[in-house]
Amino acid sequence: MNKETDGLEGVIAARTVISHADGEHGKIWVRGVPIDQVVTRGFEGAVALLWEGFVGQGLSGRGALCELGKGRALAFSRLAGWLPAAKNKQVTEALRVALAALPDDSTPSGIAGMLPVVIAALLRTEGGQEPLPPDPSLGTAEDFLRMWHGRAVEPSLIAALDRYLTTVIDNGLGSSAFAGRVIISTGASLAAAVTGAYAAFTGPLHGGAPSLALDMLDAIAASQDVDDWFDRRLAGGERLIGFGHRVFRRRDPRADILRAAVRELAPSNARLAFAQDVERRALAALKRRKPGRSIEANIEMDAAILLEAMGVPRHAFTPVFAMGRAPSWIAHALEQKRSGRMIRPTSLYVGELHSEI
Ligand code: ACO
Repeated sequence: MNKETDGLEGVIAARTVISHADGEHGKIWVRGVPIDQVVTRGFEGAVALLWEGFVGQGLSGRGALCELGKGRALAFSRLAGWLPAAKNKQVTEALRVALAALPDDSTPSGIAGMLPVVIAALLRTEGGQEPLPPDPSLGTAEDFLRMWHGRAVEPSLIAALDRYLTTVIDNGLGSSAFAGRVIISTGASLAAAVTGAYAAFTGPLHGGAPSLALDMLDAIAASQDVDDWFDRRLAGGERLIGFGHRVFRRRDPRADILRAAVRELAPSNARLAFAQDVERRALAALKRRKPGRSIEANIEMDAAILLEAMGVPRHAFTPVFAMGRAPSWIAHALEQKRSGRMIRPTSLYVGELHSEI
């Protein structure tokens, strides 16, 4: 493996006004606004910010709420088109099936509005309940929780989910956003780009990580010696989930936002106290075993604890994460489409070249 070429590290693959992650200083901006200020706008406000100039002009949080509500209503009317094919599949896989069923002429809000409807419907059907229609007048977080649980939920839960979805909305050119850009650059549809972005997102090195972070916490809790547990894993070449990032060499700023959200939702969350100790010991083990590497905590541990505190089952962590991230895939894809240039890099051929065989 050649790290530089195989992972495209440091290669500039897009010019963007969407978002920026400064890994050296641990900062993220979305459309020029620092992430800790983006979260105060709420999910629909953040979507309006992200989509401004790409999906429309002068967008507002209220306008985004209306459009996403219409998108959810449309998605529900199309349930019969994908639900049978998604039957008996895990939510992460079933969401991929549902996204693949999106028509090519799907609009940004039609696509982003589909995810909460699909995930709520899947969570209900796996429990043997009928999917519930959306209430387009509500915000995404509130309506998702209502469609899933079949009743209005406490405001603290709605606020926690809204904070989560807004915090994870974007962080620069992630592998999934890049995948979406590649797809739309060939002239394929926005629906195709978002479906591909989601597929790239589901891997454990990317959006598939949060449930694995909890699995790791469970395994550590069951072990006799935490430091030894880390040392053995690292000696065996394993990765510690929740640590490391291609861009962030400092602690991910979103981890603190999510941690504060856990404290607000569940002030005496036992998992959080344990995770803090685990994080401290993991960082020490990484320093011992990977000296000279700048490996810090990413968001996955705090994200997983917040999702768990909200009652989201582990197997739905990645789809709920994607619900927050989908508006960013859309913005990145629309920006790429505007550039009009197909992404087609070059490979370094390292095989043999025969003149005749
Ligand atoms: N545990 C152990 N070692 C690690 C970790 C980790 N979590 N992260 C990086 N390293 C080590 C690598 O083994 C490598 O060491 P080596 O040079 O001795 O082989 C060195 O640090 C550099 O690692 P890279 O592979 O160059 O780092 P990369 O930029 O590819 O990694 C990644 C980023 C994939 C996120 C990695 O840190 C990882 O696998 N983390 C664990 C999974 C995880 O938490 N994923 C979620 C990421 S956040 C998100 O996408 C939403």
